[in-house]
Amino acid sequence: MLDKSYQPYGLEPIERASRDEIAALQTERLKWSLKHAYDNVASYKQKFDAAGVHPDDFKCLEDLAKFPFTTKQDLRANYPFGMFAVPQDRIARIHASSGTTGKPTVVGYTLNDIDVWATVMARSIRASGGRPGMKVHVSYGYGLFTGGLGAHYGAEKLGCAVIPVSAGMTERQVQLICDFAPDIIMVTPSYMLAILDEFRAKGIDPRKSSLQIGIFGAEPWTNSMRGEIEAAFDMDAVDIYGLSEVMGPGVANECVETKDGLHIWEDHFYPEVIDPVTGQVLPDGEQGELVFTSLSKEAMPVIRYRTRDLTRLLPGTARSMRRMQKVTGRSDDMMIVRGVNVFPTQIEEQLLRCDGLAPHFYIELYREHRLDSVRVHVEARAEHADEASRAAQAALLKAHVRSVVGIGVEVEVADPGGIERSMGKARRVVDKRPKD
Ligand code: DLL
Repeated sequence: MLDKSYQPYGLEPIERASRDEIAALQTERLKWSLKHAYDNVASYKQKFDAAGVHPDDFKCLEDLAKFPFTTKQDLRANYPFGMFAVPQDRIARIHASSGTTGKPTVVGYTLNDIDVWATVMARSIRASGGRPGMKVHVSYGYGLFTGGLGAHYGAEKLGCAVIPVSAGMTERQVQLICDFAPDIIMVTPSYMLAILDEFRAKGIDPRKSSLQIGIFGAEPWTNSMRGEIEAAFDMDAVDIYGLSEVMGPGVANECVETKDGLHIWEDHFYPEVIDPVTGQVLPDGEQGELVFTSLSKEAMPVIRYRTRDLTRLLPGTARSMRRMQKVTGRSDDMMIVRGVNVFPTQIEEQLLRCDGLAPHFYIELYREHRLDSVRVHVEARAEHADEASRAAQAALLKAHVRSVVGIGVEVEVADPGGIERSMGKARRVVDKRPKD
């Protein structure tokens, strides 16, 4: 863990800018971005025209609300390259996110976009406590997924030595951590737990590992999970957020000195939070769906892109840029169980209160007597694997979920190691309800 005297260092001027300076930069960049999208992407021109707005109507930040939203459907409808705003010969990189159904969402970058991305990623790693000269073990997947290469370029730009391991081969992950002694690991929190299991299986004390900082994202995770990982590895665990459509990882990142939500790099990504039903912009502090407009992206500008992620905007603390609260879930991951809205993160929190249960889980939705029901599949910790402890732990989790989340669930406790490990994003919900 970083010691108490830790001071952030090497901030870019914009990280110290006043709110007025930030707003002035955003206004100027938004003017450019709206015009760039309108002039160069047929889909934006059509949508703006249909809504009766023109980039010239944008005079101040509040005017952004006049412009139409962009959704994943718009990107799919223009598969693969219809949303690109520059000629093909200026495209330097293509990534894609697979999603659960249908065609992947394709995104493109110019060389300048790649440089901006590396800059915000370097800023994110620095905010996490990283410094030039450190070694960074990257276990996010390399490939079409933005995690691996995004982390890679940022770590290099900060002046770190990158170990591009990618995801998978958990035994080798542990071996390389022991042999190469990295200071930082970048990985999904669920895969970090699989790495932790492997440390224990090999009889290696994770607290003695060289790792000081973990930069975890690409999926929702709770503060309880942070506590679990920090205690196990004696490291600082910080949250990193991003999405392919907007850039990739590095749209927002927690600062290690406060760990109080993620500072959004507002000089490149303009955030709004809206009511997901009415589309109305909500005031800062209110919970809703996060929407982003890119401010500098050349190859694929996004205007008011609806992320489906639920959070709230909060004032800056460690930096002047605003924060977003840890994402509690996606609107499409929300389960409505007998009228109660439930997110997998709420189950995660309760499960981490049960000492005999390991933090690996998934949630099965099924239908019984025409009613939606939930079964939580969890795993016993090795010391609590006997039948009596398992029954007691199942009863405890049921009681916690009933009293805190407000729903009744079934709990099935598997043997240690009985829940499949994810190597990237964990799949938390398995929906077995008949499609009607
Ligand atoms: O997951 C980019 C990324 C890579 C972020 C590595 C952080 C680290 P996509 O595959 O396009 O991009 O998925 C984006 O993942 O809309 C959220 O629902 C979810 N997500 C990403 N980061 C977080 C986070 C990458 N820190 C989608 N907390 C987003 C919660 C997250 N959810």
